[in-house]
Amino acid sequence: MPKVLAQAVERIAAAACEPGGLCVLTGAGMSAESGIATFRDAMTGLWSRFDPMELASEDGFRADPARVWGWYEERRAGVRAAQPNAGHHALAAFARRHPGVLTLVTQNVDDLHQRAGSVDTIRLHGDILCDRWLEPCQHATQRSACDVARALPGRPPRCADCDNPLRPGVVWFGEMLPPDAIAAAERAAEGCAVLLVVGTSGAVWPAAGLAAQARRQGAWVAIVNPHPSDIDGQAHAALRGTAVGLLPALFAS
Ligand code: OAD
Repeated sequence: MPKVLAQAVERIAAAACEPGGLCVLTGAGMSAESGIATFRDAMTGLWSRFDPMELASEDGFRADPARVWGWYEERRAGVRAAQPNAGHHALAAFARRHPGVLTLVTQNVDDLHQRAGSVDTIRLHGDILCDRWLEPCQHATQRSACDVARALPGRPPRCADCDNPLRPGVVWFGEMLPPDAIAAAERAAEGCAVLLVVGTSGAVWPAAGLAAQARRQGAWVAIVNPHPSDIDGQAHAALRGTAVGLLPALFAS
């Protein structure tokens, strides 16, 4: 086993003895080996083929709701057809063996961590399989908000009472992250002994800042990625490999 990998295995095993000792931040590379495209990989990344401002911003949705809705429908079908990989399973099994040790924070909008059995995963960028109203529901203050499950079919579906369109329940460019989720992620990063960053380019904030925050508070930070990332400079070690190739060995303790 390469020295840097052995060092990471040792650090993770030691952190497994402490409540909150470990924090893992995952990005699109985590699900790449399940067949879900990343965003920024050259050739295969979604943003090498599509304009994020057209497909992942409120302005883009308002400009062409049918196109954006259709694009998310295709991505949802891909997520539903995908299966968690050995990396997702390794994290979930480790958390079961060491209750209270691991906080899993993900930028991914798929549900592969959840289907692998991870519980209480902090989802920074929302859930692609959930919808919400584009405008705040006007009935939310007078009575309960209109039920998204009762929207009339369409591209996008619309509220039968208010004509409010549905939008995907993901965080788009220019939008705030769910405040509770980012606060919980920052607490976990700042309180852990080891932060492992898996499969992210480190190009999107505030998630990208968690590595530096953890390191400032004394955590040992390592990156799992076959390629260099924007936040390698924040890490003590860069493990060059894939999620499936490395996580089962890293989380074997
Ligand atoms: P990116 O597409 O920016 O980065 C994916 C990273 O995964 C790259 O650094 C790859 O080298 C790495 N990678 C590829 N295959 C891998 C594998 N098998 N194992 C490990 N790593 C691998 O994806 P994110 O960093 O997640 O926002 O992107 C951050 C956010 O930007 C996303 O959450 C998304 C996007 O716009 C929303 O959906 C709101």
